[in-house]
Amino acid sequence: MTDPAPSLAPTTAPASAEAELALQVARRRTFAIISHPDAGKTTLTEKLLLYGGAIHLAGSVKARRADRHATSDWMELERQRGISVTSSVLQFPYRGHAVNLLDTPGHQDFSEDTYRTLAAADSAVMLLDNRKGVEERTRQLFAVCKRRRTPIVTFVNKCDRAGADPMTLLGDVERDLGIACHAAAWPINGDTGFIGVYDRRRARALIFDRNTDHGATRAETHAYALDDPRLLEHVEPGALQRLRDELELLEGAGHPFDREAFLAGDLTPVYFGSALTNFGVEGFLQDFLDLAPAPLARESTAGPVDPVQPAFTGFVFKIQANMDPKHRDRVAFLRICSGKFEAGMDARQVRTGKTLRLAAPQQFLARERIAITEAWPGDVIGIMDRGNLRIGDSLTNGPDAVFQDIPRFPPEHFATVTPADPLRRKQLDTGLRELSEEGAAQVFYAEGDTGPAPIVGAVGQLQFDVMVFRLTHEYGAPCRLEPIRYKHPRWVTGPKAALERASQASGRLRLFDTGGRPVLLFENEWSLRWALENEKELTFHDVAP
Ligand code: G4P
Repeated sequence: MTDPAPSLAPTTAPASAEAELALQVARRRTFAIISHPDAGKTTLTEKLLLYGGAIHLAGSVKARRADRHATSDWMELERQRGISVTSSVLQFPYRGHAVNLLDTPGHQDFSEDTYRTLAAADSAVMLLDNRKGVEERTRQLFAVCKRRRTPIVTFVNKCDRAGADPMTLLGDVERDLGIACHAAAWPINGDTGFIGVYDRRRARALIFDRNTDHGATRAETHAYALDDPRLLEHVEPGALQRLRDELELLEGAGHPFDREAFLAGDLTPVYFGSALTNFGVEGFLQDFLDLAPAPLARESTAGPVDPVQPAFTGFVFKIQANMDPKHRDRVAFLRICSGKFEAGMDARQVRTGKTLRLAAPQQFLARERIAITEAWPGDVIGIMDRGNLRIGDSLTNGPDAVFQDIPRFPPEHFATVTPADPLRRKQLDTGLRELSEEGAAQVFYAEGDTGPAPIVGAVGQLQFDVMVFRLTHEYGAPCRLEPIRYKHPRWVTGPKAALERASQASGRLRLFDTGGRPVLLFENEWSLRWALENEKELTFHDVAP
């Protein structure tokens, strides 16, 4: 169980460009971890990187996270608040697979970012704390996966300490989330606590050596058949009998594995382990990569786009400005959906018809940036952007195809922005424009697409704090935000005269978004409902049409 991770290079040279594309697609696994804060996502990520050979001693992801704060001002806010607001992507090789792990921010105010990241994933790992089971944030993220029918593999973490009875926990997950659970592994508890897992797929007990380095290196493992007498050297007879009884119960009453149900998001294989001590992590990773699908065809306006079609396609699901404030750069994260990507290639931005050169592409390994020359469907690459790209943009060098399943959200909080220094208005406008393109803020004006009083909208309150912090530190535009009493935004389309009339009614505020589209805000839910029922000539939209 300790064989070194192989390199990303394929072992045999493919015969043709088509064969190479098919081979590269088959090797890709692109996933995200969904969990409630504190379930152990950072720890598990670190351990996956450890087993993938991307880092050598666990502990370095957190250490590097601390480094980053020294060079990136606004992430100071993350540190102060003890939360993670940025998301990134990590690529590492593992046993012939190219694994893309999309890291999602943990705080619920940043759900927009997380939801968009889930749109770029092909599968998900649901991470649960063995004492807490399904928690609020997991429930929300699970709902997004369920809607998209994303296949989910579950890892029950922290089994090194006593938790809920595993049978009860599975029952709770099934009832709470409405997904069938198949126990692919089962915890083995001896008198000294958690000592291993039973691997039901291969019918063997895996007993782990307890490390003396607190999980900084891989856990050595011994594998035994259930009737192997050597097992009794690790498990007391009473505990072994209990394990046998539980396995029998699972065999008789548990859900058998059903690949189709798994791929449709209706059944989740469940693993037990401890990210902290590494127990159960390696077997979980191997099975996960085996079970999780390679990139599949994605829906677009031109019909399903097959990853092995030769034309290159992809979509932008995240934009991040100033990742390195020394260079004031802007990186667009592109999920490749089909064809081969080559550095410096031209691709058409479907929204504008413009041809863009995709220069200086990068991949992210254990949070280091690496320049790359090529990438394949399933990969996520960072592209240097000069302000051309927007979240949701589709790029192609074949026929036009727009990927539509990137979720958008209406803002729930609104505030006016007042510059602390009127002479820095230009910096403020630049900052607001860039934050809006990044999806970090939604910006509105009272009169057309510019105007004296910008109003910002956010999905979560915490986003306002991040905005002020970034406008001050990245754009040199200190400002004050003052909440306004209007909310419940609706984008409105219809005849101009009807729109004008509707804008005048009391209890409403008309604004324009950065694209010049009219938006009505309402004082309360009652006035919104009244408008929806009575403004027959107008159509109201939750997000920009
Ligand atoms: P998150 O990213 O999901 O928020 O969780 P994170 O990995 O930061 O873990 C949250 C806490 O849970 C950490 O403890 C971490 O050490 C602990 N943890 C993670 N996996 C396991 C596990 O398998 N077993 C046990 N017992 N604990 C686990 P902390 O005290 O908050 O932080 P730290 O000082 O250990 O870094």
